[in-house]
Amino acid sequence: MSFRIQPTAPARPNRCQLFGPGSNTKLFEKMAGSAADVINLDLEDSVAPTDKDSARSNVIEAINDVDWGNKTLSVRINGLDTPYWYRDVIDLLEQAGPRLDQIMIPKVGCAEDIYAVDALVTAVEAAKGREKKLAFEVIIESAAGLAHVEAIAASSPRLEAMSLGAADFAASMGMQTTGIGGTQDNYYMLKDGAKYWSDPWHWAQTAIVAACRTHGVLPVDGPFGDFSDDEGFRAQALRSATLGMVGKWAIHPKQIPLANEIFTPSDDAVTEAREILSAMEDAKAKGEGATVYKGRLVDIASIKQAEVIVRQSEMIAKQ
Ligand code: COA
Ligand code: MG
Repeated sequence: MSFRIQPTAPARPNRCQLFGPGSNTKLFEKMAGSAADVINLDLEDSVAPTDKDSARSNVIEAINDVDWGNKTLSVRINGLDTPYWYRDVIDLLEQAGPRLDQIMIPKVGCAEDIYAVDALVTAVEAAKGREKKLAFEVIIESAAGLAHVEAIAASSPRLEAMSLGAADFAASMGMQTTGIGGTQDNYYMLKDGAKYWSDPWHWAQTAIVAACRTHGVLPVDGPFGDFSDDEGFRAQALRSATLGMVGKWAIHPKQIPLANEIFTPSDDAVTEAREILSAMEDAKAKGEGATVYKGRLVDIASIKQAEVIVRQSEMIAKQ
C-alpha cells in the first residue's frame, strides 16, 4: 500500500438507482415505493426541451411532498453545454427542501465542470443558509470524461458517486452501435471458426473503478436499455460487480430486483468470506501469514478481499 491511504467510499447502499422522467409525475409515488436504494428524478435527456421548465417544477414539488423514506434522493440536472443547468441548480437549492440529497451532473468532461457547479451550489447554499451540503454524482459518458476520469474523481469533496453512461459514451467515442450497454454482436474474437464475444465496456468500467477507488467515490454501472432482456442485464451487472462497481441503474422497475440481488453479496459468498477470515486468524495464531482454504492458497491479501464482501453485506444489512 502506498503511504497515502486509499480513502473509503461513502458507506451507504447504492445497489440500484431508479430513473424516471421529471415530466412523468405519475411515476413519482411508484418510484418512492420501490426497492431502489437511490432515486434519480431526471431533468435531462428523458425530458423534451419544451417540458424543461414544467419538469423542474414537478420535481421540486415531489421532493417536498412525496415520502421518499430512507432513499438517497438525487436529481439529474441538464448538462453544462445547455441553457438549462444553472436554473436547475438555483431553483432546486432555493425551492426544494433539505430532503434533496444529491444532484447528478451528466456528460462531465473535465474537473473544471465540477468546479463550476460547486461554486454555484456553494454560493446558493450560503445565501439561503442551507445546512445540509448537497452531494454530487457524475456520469462519465464522453471521450473527454474518460480521458480526465481521475481528475474528475478528485474534483470535489461533494462527489459521492460516478456512473458510466454507455449510450452517450458510445456516441462520443464513435462506436458503431445503437445498443445501451451489454454484448455487441460485432465485438468478438475468432478462434478456429468460432466466435468468442468480448466486452467493449470493460476498459471504461475499469478506468472508472480505479479513479473512484483512488478518491473514495462509489463506482456505478449505468443503464441497460433492453429492459425485456433480464439475462442480458444480469450478465452486464455481474461483470460490473466483479470489477468492483457497487450498483447499476434501473430504467424500468423490472430491473430493480435484478440489481439488488447481484449487488448484495450472496449468503454463500459471505459465509466463504467469514471462513477465510477465520482460517487466517488460525494461521496468524500459529505465526503463519498464509494457509490453505478448500485446497487453495489464502494469505494476508485474502483478508482484505474477504473484508470487502463482509463489510458490504453488513452495511446493506444495517439499512
Ligand atoms: N419508475 C417507477 N415505475 C415505473 C417506471 C419507473 N421508471 N417505469 C414504468 N413504471 C411503472 C409503470 O407506470 C407501470 O405501472 P402500472 O403497472 O401501475 O401501470 C409499470 O411500471 C409497468 O410499466 P410498463 O408499461 O412496462 O412501461 P411504460 O411503457 O409505462 O414505461 C418507459 C416504459 C421506458 C418509458 C419507462 O419505464 C421510463 O420512463 N423509464 C425511465 C426512463 C428514464 O428515466 N431515462 C433516463 C435515464 S437513462
Ligand atoms: Mg446520457
